[in-house]
Amino acid sequence: MGRTAIVTGGTRGLGKAIALALREAGHQVAANYLYDEEEAHAFQREHGIAVYRWDVSDFAACCEGVARVEAELGPVGVLVNNAGITADAMFHKMSEEQWWSVIQTNLGSMFAMTRPVIEGMRARGFGRIVNISSINARKGQAGQCNYAAAKAGIIGFTKSLALENAARNVTVNAVAPGYCDTPMVAAMRPDVLAAITAGIPAGRMGASADIARTVVFLADEAAGFITGATFDVNGGQYLA
Ligand code: CAA
Repeated sequence: MGRTAIVTGGTRGLGKAIALALREAGHQVAANYLYDEEEAHAFQREHGIAVYRWDVSDFAACCEGVARVEAELGPVGVLVNNAGITADAMFHKMSEEQWWSVIQTNLGSMFAMTRPVIEGMRARGFGRIVNISSINARKGQAGQCNYAAAKAGIIGFTKSLALENAARNVTVNAVAPGYCDTPMVAAMRPDVLAAITAGIPAGRMGASADIARTVVFLADEAAGFITGATFDVNGGQYLA
């Protein structure tokens, strides 16, 4: 049965692949975005998926955004907390702005986006929440103290929320992608990226579809007994 699904950061990178795969699986998808209006509207025209602009680090904006989606597409059954940013720097060179912007967007959004949907999911007795963490939450990464802290925080959030909601058929899981073929990874310094990807046992970077497939699986009605788990999808680069 198709549900209304929100994918944050859903018009590019991993989020775009997740939005397309959820639609393919029969869901009504709302793709949230913030930065690139033109790109988002091109995505909507090309794929017929509704796009909605708001900042996932802003609680009031998330409440309004969720209300708009629910008025237009119906109650939210699936939430994919995917939106995230990087502001990489060695910690001894990191600014306060680099620290807080990443914590607020990547971890603060867990509260801001999930709080407006959780009561409805509990009341209806159905919900599938999938939070996008990272390989670097598991293993750490020089240059990413802010990002790794936020992404590791997501795993603690996922486990706790899963315990609170298991009895209401609301599952909460995390996916921890490795280095994938996305604009975020493409923005890395080529020499640093080459050194990291040389260590992937699968012999390639991940494809967005590798992550999307996992999210669709977890969002399925039949995945109701899987909750509080973190799925590593990283080509064997780190085994938690
Ligand atoms: N471990 C330990 N020390 C390291 C290191 C490492 N891996 N890499 C560099 N250093 C040291 C260097 O030796 C150097 O030491 P000295 O100052 O004593 O000479 C110091 O750190 C500075 O190194 P750089 O000159 O390379 O520093 P920089 O300021 O030019 O660059 C950086 C820093 C931008 C953070 C760069 O190191 C980098 O890009 N790191 C990779 C970060 C990364 O993996 N980002 C992932 C983005 S994609 C993503 O996040 C998606 C996902 O979920 C996977």
